[in-house]
Amino acid sequence: MPLSRGAPAVLPFLLAFLVGRGAGSSSHSMRYFVTSVSEPGQQVPQFSYVGYVDDQEFVSYNASTRRYLPKVPWISKVEKNDPDYWERNTLYAQGHERSFRDHLATLAEYYNQSGGLHTFQWMYGCELRNDWSKGGYYQYAYDGRDYISLDKDTLTWMAADVPAQNTKRKWDADFRDNEYKKTYLEETCIEWLQRYLNYGKETLLRTDKPEVKVTRKEDYDGMETLICRVGGFYPKDIDIDWTRDGEVWLQDVFHGLVSPNSDGTYYTWRSVKVDPKERERYKCHVEHDGLPNPVDVAWEEPDSNLGLIIGCVVGVLLLIAVMAGIAVYFKKSQDGYKAAAASDQGSNSSGTGTAVPI
Ligand SMILES: *[C@@H]1O[C@H](CO)[C@@H](O)[C@H](O)[C@H]1NC(C)=O
Ligand SMILES: *[C@@H]1O[C@H](CO)[C@@H](O)[C@H](O)[C@H]1NC(C)=O
Repeated sequence: MPLSRGAPAVLPFLLAFLVGRGAGSSSHSMRYFVTSVSEPGQQVPQFSYVGYVDDQEFVSYNASTRRYLPKVPWISKVEKNDPDYWERNTLYAQGHERSFRDHLATLAEYYNQSGGLHTFQWMYGCELRNDWSKGGYYQYAYDGRDYISLDKDTLTWMAADVPAQNTKRKWDADFRDNEYKKTYLEETCIEWLQRYLNYGKETLLRTDKPEVKVTRKEDYDGMETLICRVGGFYPKDIDIDWTRDGEVWLQDVFHGLVSPNSDGTYYTWRSVKVDPKERERYKCHVEHDGLPNPVDVAWEEPDSNLGLIIGCVVGVLLLIAVMAGIAVYFKKSQDGYKAAAASDQGSNSSGTGTAVPI
């Protein structure tokens, strides 16, 4: 929660942007991941404090740098209105680095542990959906499992196991602080998210429209699999369905994760198992903010150009074969000549390596 100062006004550009969007599922989020790892034989635990807007890491602090540092160019715009942003957040993160060291020691006591590798994580963030609903969470995990999280409705903590009840007792008692955290998630966090979206709008609010392609694979059982490949899109939110005769089809549908490309766009796939005779009834239906209208893509016979391409390739191969044949013929005649010449000198011709046809 390093960002508790100077709330920006609601940003008209964002309002226009969100209202102007289609019925897509687009949303924006700000998240922080704070991780401390204690390892046997290490005096000081590793520590990192990393901030994301949507899926973009924009700030980071760790035990090596001990500074809160920019990870994207647009965040430098923050300095104009908030000159001590970096200094303030550096001190804040350093404070957490110290307290996480203590937390790890306390947790080891709660769990009766004496050393070993242990991880304590704190995750918090907020989300602004394009129907203007908001979400926020504040939670902790120990050794990869839920430890405790804030229930914003009751302003109490939910302990995931018995040791976490020690923490719950301590934290439930501080009602004011829990109230402050709720306000942070519901107001401050959202305001800063909007500010960051404005600073980074060239990258964060851009849309790259998806390329959609359907390929086909024959299966062993006489059926076939149609694969809808969707790539090159941004933002990550996308709706993809297989339809049959225009109705959403769910049977034998498999899907891949939405994965990042190195250029900041995403790709994914959906497949459906079909009877080859019914292939034409299926379409891949895609909705995305980058598309003015949803698209429906069916499998298509490869372009008729393919025949031409195959023709050209075969032609080139033939030409190469003919030329190779001519080259071999001349090489052989030459070798034959050389071999003859060599034997004329009365020396052993076995070193040429070429069998001379007879
Ligand atoms: C610490 O942060 C710096 C700068 O962001 C980065 O280059 C470095 O790899 C990080 N170190 C660790 C151990 O994560
Ligand atoms: C730790 O040890 C104490 C005393 O032996 C025991 O009461 C407690 O249940 C143990 N806690 C865990 C998490 O194993």
